Amino acid sequence: MSQKESIRDVDVAGKRVFVRVDFNVPIHGGTISDDTRIRAAVPTIQYLLDHGASVILASHLGRPGGRVQDDLKLAPVADRLGEILRIPVQVAPDSVGGETASLAHALQPGDVLMLENVRFHPEEESNDAGYARDLAELANLYVDDAFGSAHRAHASTEGITHFLTSVAGLLMERELTALGSVINHPDRPLVAIIGGAKISSKIGVLTHLLDLTDSFLIGGGMANTLLKAQGHEVGDSLIEEDKLDEARSFLDLARSRARQVELPRDVVVVREVSTEAERKTVRVEDVETGWKIVDIGPDTVASFGDFIGHAGTVVWNGPMGIFELEPFAAGTRAVARAVAASNARSIVGGGDSVAAVEEAGLADRMTHISTGGGASLEFLEGRTLPGVAALQDAPVRGVTP
Ligand code: 3PG
Repeated sequence: MSQKESIRDVDVAGKRVFVRVDFNVPIHGGTISDDTRIRAAVPTIQYLLDHGASVILASHLGRPGGRVQDDLKLAPVADRLGEILRIPVQVAPDSVGGETASLAHALQPGDVLMLENVRFHPEEESNDAGYARDLAELANLYVDDAFGSAHRAHASTEGITHFLTSVAGLLMERELTALGSVINHPDRPLVAIIGGAKISSKIGVLTHLLDLTDSFLIGGGMANTLLKAQGHEVGDSLIEEDKLDEARSFLDLARSRARQVELPRDVVVVREVSTEAERKTVRVEDVETGWKIVDIGPDTVASFGDFIGHAGTVVWNGPMGIFELEPFAAGTRAVARAVAASNARSIVGGGDSVAAVEEAGLADRMTHISTGGGASLEFLEGRTLPGVAALQDAPVRGVTP
């Protein structure tokens, strides 16, 4: 990916700037339970306001499937942003249309207008050129600060860039620099901690990181398929039979390239996945029929901790067990503590691993916590992110993903 221009490379004074943000935050009964993504976009918004621009914010929220859905309106997000910025943030009745256009064109430098959820229009996800043009006509500069949505080629992330000068926001720049540094200039050894339920969603990352990574520490449900591929019985644990061959090829390739792949040595097992279930810790060789693996055990935590303690760079994506259930969260939390305690550069992405770090109060001990779930995964898979590719290339200086 080439270098991209950012808001610092263009004159924004007096402009109406369309800023695509990813304000897809968890909202329950009108209350935002995690405003990280809102706070993460504030430096860009503040920069634009301080430099004499007016700001038009656009985001999706949830997956309303192209229809208006009241519980996915952006009013609670605008209120929260207004509290943080300490200025009123008005929500337009729609993302396009006469009334929205009048509000946008009346903006004065220092004003902020939030468009209604762009996914209320099916044309957003189909990347319809007409809808993208209507969005573009609201503004005279496009800024993409929605790293979390950069893997989507939608009208507000890609289509709009065909009609306006398009540059990266400060969050986008920070994400690309942090994730890019893992790929381009890791401090050695580079340790990849990869977890999560399914190997099918992570095999791309494993394969892409194979050439770059010194050691893989693998936990979560996906480790079961690798254990099985190594010939271990994993009782009634979740495995993906149809991925056993890919799992075997990954292990073979890793061996042939002298990469270390650390799988769980001991695991927490239960008969049924519930918080009340009887649980015990056993060696991986001893998982019996009728039992399911739900977390890594203390010996595994210790061995993973050893690798993490000696790492130069750690990239972490995915939990080590069924982290959302308290009794099975210990392994993921212990890994979070080990990463926080190490001197390695640490890059954390993916909802559950980020949640584990934040819940443990360790977020400020990480070098970078990505706001992108799917997007950070696709970045680490080496895939082109359409929302990034569409931004203006910087010939001289800018962001080096
Ligand atoms: C995310 O939460 O990962 C992004 O906002 C993208 O959302 P999506 O998967 O619904 O496109």
